[in-house]
Amino acid sequence: MVQIFNARQTGGIKPVFSWKLRGDENQRIYRIQVSGEKGNTVWDSGNVESDERHNIPCPIQLEKEQKYNWSIYVMGEKSGEDTAEGDAFLTEISKWEAKWMEPDRIRKPIIDSTQPVQPKGRCERPQDGLEKLDEAVYMRKTFLLQECPKSALLYAASHGIYSIWVNGHQVSDLFAPGNTSYKKHIDYQIYDVAKYLQHGKNVICVVLADGWYTGKIGAVGIGQQFGSENAILFQLSVIGQNGTKETIMSDEDMKWSDGAIRYADLYVGEYYDANYEKEGWLETDYDDHSWRPVRVNPDGYEQLVRQSIPAIRETRMIRPTVLQTPKGELLLDAGENIVGYTSFELTLNKGDIISLEHSETIDKDGNYIQNIIGQNKNQTDYYVAKDAGNHCFKPQFSFHGFRYVRVKGTTDTDPSHYQIHVIETPLRDTGTFRCSDERLNKLQENILRSQKGNLISIPTDCPQRERTGWTGDMQVYARTGCYEQDIEMFLRHWLRDMEHEQLPDGQIPHIVPYMPSHDIMKPPGLEGVSAAGWSDAAVIVPWRLYEAYGDKQILRECFPMMKRYMDATKRMAAERPEGYDEMSPDRQKWQKYLWNTGFQYGDWLMPSIQMSGRSIFEVVTETGYIIASVYYALTTDIMRQVCMALGETKLEKEYEDLNTKIREAFAKEYINEDGTMKKDYQGVYVTALAAGCVPEEKKKAALDRLETLIQENDNRLDTGFLSVPYLLPVLHKNGRKELANTLLFQDKCPSWLYEVKMGATTMWEYWNGYAEDGTPSDGSMNHFAFGCVGEYLYRTILGITPLTPGYQEVLIQPDTTCGLNFVEGSFETIWGTIEVSWKLDGKKVKLNLTVPPDVTAKVVLNDYIKTVGCGTYHIETCQ
Ligand code: BGC
Repeated sequence: MVQIFNARQTGGIKPVFSWKLRGDENQRIYRIQVSGEKGNTVWDSGNVESDERHNIPCPIQLEKEQKYNWSIYVMGEKSGEDTAEGDAFLTEISKWEAKWMEPDRIRKPIIDSTQPVQPKGRCERPQDGLEKLDEAVYMRKTFLLQECPKSALLYAASHGIYSIWVNGHQVSDLFAPGNTSYKKHIDYQIYDVAKYLQHGKNVICVVLADGWYTGKIGAVGIGQQFGSENAILFQLSVIGQNGTKETIMSDEDMKWSDGAIRYADLYVGEYYDANYEKEGWLETDYDDHSWRPVRVNPDGYEQLVRQSIPAIRETRMIRPTVLQTPKGELLLDAGENIVGYTSFELTLNKGDIISLEHSETIDKDGNYIQNIIGQNKNQTDYYVAKDAGNHCFKPQFSFHGFRYVRVKGTTDTDPSHYQIHVIETPLRDTGTFRCSDERLNKLQENILRSQKGNLISIPTDCPQRERTGWTGDMQVYARTGCYEQDIEMFLRHWLRDMEHEQLPDGQIPHIVPYMPSHDIMKPPGLEGVSAAGWSDAAVIVPWRLYEAYGDKQILRECFPMMKRYMDATKRMAAERPEGYDEMSPDRQKWQKYLWNTGFQYGDWLMPSIQMSGRSIFEVVTETGYIIASVYYALTTDIMRQVCMALGETKLEKEYEDLNTKIREAFAKEYINEDGTMKKDYQGVYVTALAAGCVPEEKKKAALDRLETLIQENDNRLDTGFLSVPYLLPVLHKNGRKELANTLLFQDKCPSWLYEVKMGATTMWEYWNGYAEDGTPSDGSMNHFAFGCVGEYLYRTILGITPLTPGYQEVLIQPDTTCGLNFVEGSFETIWGTIEVSWKLDGKKVKLNLTVPPDVTAKVVLNDYIKTVGCGTYHIETCQ
């Protein structure tokens, strides 16, 4: 029996097709058929004898501005068969002709501070957004159609974010066009709107808000980073009943007005004053003669690309608990730290102002506080009632990272009058993990919640403060991320922007998309800086995707960026470090193999420094160069493997040689005779061991020292950003598995289970996000980075490790001595789902395993070692 599931395509004129299988037989044959709207077959692969089923390219180029259907047929080795209809998909626009239209207005001057970090998280006065921010822009265009069309596709993009209505029907995605490297890349969206159009007069209405383009984004919170004004671009392609084509587009015929949204900023919030509502403005016969003219923005179309990732959506609704704080304030509690917004339905009087302030935390007494540092991070929405009666409100152009909402302006405590809406980029969940320790189950939930909250258009560090594509965060987290959800296309989309942001000399910035205001945060003299562990994402993230999804195309796509970046790193490493002239000639020789120049974060947020109250930048001086050099070894080794996968034999050898020299230089420069490190920190041992920088003869001593450091630290970790992902795997792999598990189950701060013990519902930025007495820190409560321990749960505790990229060969070797009684979980690979559950029964271990078609699993369970193909297995051994 074979059964197809999760059949999907990437859309566009060059789609790739994928599906997965369940069943007890391997795939022998597949057949893909693509058909046009009339049912005419445009491509038929015929019967292909192959086990392939991931990212199969369509060999012909499909037509633009079309809707296609496709189906997949599979026959198994034992002649089981199945057919599935994939989702219909749309293709690119043929030719842009529309004009970028913007309101003819003068924007308010920027009065924000240029200080990188503002001590206060809020505007001084509650409503000063009105002074700093401009109104959302309402635009209209009416047009006539001679008949009801047969088909109609609307293509749209914007500077800023937009909503579009066709004859009163909202057709657009949330927060479109998303967050990309706007100077080089703007996604456009395609909407099938035929059913909303009519014979006679029609109207397209638009609201434009600041979004990421002109909004107050990033750590610094200064607006207009990519341009000073918002603009809309849309083109409607209408095909009449007899095949005639007509195009309606954004142009000078449009008009604009301000309206009820007095401002809308992703970070600051939205201010909706119903007194400014334009009654009936979405209707065709609305009288807009008093609306103002629009002007053309001369931008072209070079940046425009059909959106290839799912649009952001509301995925869940939460009915909050309504509380009264000790101070007597009205507080909504979502019960979990989420990303989204709040809506209400309240009875109000004319002129009532409702404010909704969002925060991740309350203080230890239960009162509302804002924990977030930085300017313009208010996360506050306002609604002004224009008359007495029932009023509904939901913001459209702002979202927040929060658990609690302070509501002012009403005393209504009925929970059914409030709703919390959770938003996500809807990516498929691919991992499950459950075990006999509820605390680990909670940790797993928190990891996934943080991932979902931060994959909003791009991978962000956190969803409430910077909301920025910090490259280091995804670099450390990517492996875990790939277990939890299908993030292949999402990260490929982001990696394209990473390439867009690559500097001419090959350097990669710390944030992608880049925003000019970030320059303010750079140390003087280090413009265009790369930093190990962050910029290294250019090499590590594509490799993680290849490990998880096995598609060499990912590597091919990224290879030019990776190579140019490594060339730049080589140059930077080769620069002479401080004190070079005083070094012995011998020592001077190996300096070029150490990355000991420029700005380096080092083992960022190392707990003993971060929690001590000392400057977090101490970690830079303490560990910057030693950790950068280890990462240089890690990335050159990955490049060796990339070149091997791509058949770049000459380069493979070059990276191999370079890697050897780096490891040798590291050992000479940083490792003492007795195997201890010149910088005696846990993270240094962990990463040096992970990168193979510790010579064999010193390995035991280094491991012993690492063990001692952990023990002296009361069996607690002291690893920062760049070493945390390697901590448990390094200990486990090197014969210290009890210690690895002690750290996993540790619940004193800093530890993963401390967060769980303190009631976390997401992963924190700081290990001491809350003090023991419940006092919150000013760090973010929703940073996925330290959730990278998820990899250990899936690989070592559940026991699913790939032996080949894409998991066609997999090792099933759970650690049944880790202290748990049972573990069950699964991982949906590109082939199908691997399911594992094990439990202890007295001295026995019982393992259930399901291996999907075309996957072979090597099972190692105590003395049981066997390689099996697809099917379901029940294995029993003694501990
Ligand atoms: C972010 C991090 C980021 C870091 C760079 C922080 O402010 O929140 O997650 O990687 O800066 O060190």
